[in-house]
Amino acid sequence: MKIAVGSDHAGVELKKTVIAWLEKNGYESEDMGPYTEESVDYPDYAQKVALSVAGGLSDQGILLCGTGIGVSIAANKIKGIRAALVFNPEFATLARQHNNANIICFSARFTDEDTIEKSLRNWFTADFEGGRHERRVNKIEPCC
Ligand code: RB5
Repeated sequence: MKIAVGSDHAGVELKKTVIAWLEKNGYESEDMGPYTEESVDYPDYAQKVALSVAGGLSDQGILLCGTGIGVSIAANKIKGIRAALVFNPEFATLARQHNNANIICFSARFTDEDTIEKSLRNWFTADFEGGRHERRVNKIEPCC
């Protein structure tokens, strides 16, 4: 499974933790930047990751910014993307099981490393449950 990973300057440090966790657990990852803590605009990196997932070049994506809000809003503008802002491992499980989310977003300023690692473990072990959730997910389309 190939995972696209991106952030803004606020998420650069924790992005390293995420990539190390992916490597340790046997996932191929692509770091889509940024690579320094120089100030950048989060939509640029959210769009890179989202386009990679939407275009099938990556199976799933991981995004980080200060709050996680900016990257999740930006990623969700790309057709086919269901980006979930996750604050704890339970959210990670439910975002996969109920929402079939394909990008997980974290707040780099309000989430600790342990929570991120446990959330990633849950994210990669939970599967979409389909059924009534599939009907609902299919209704998530731009409508106006
Ligand atoms: C950058 O200072 C900050 O605005 C950004 O990381 C993020 O929190 C936006 O949603």
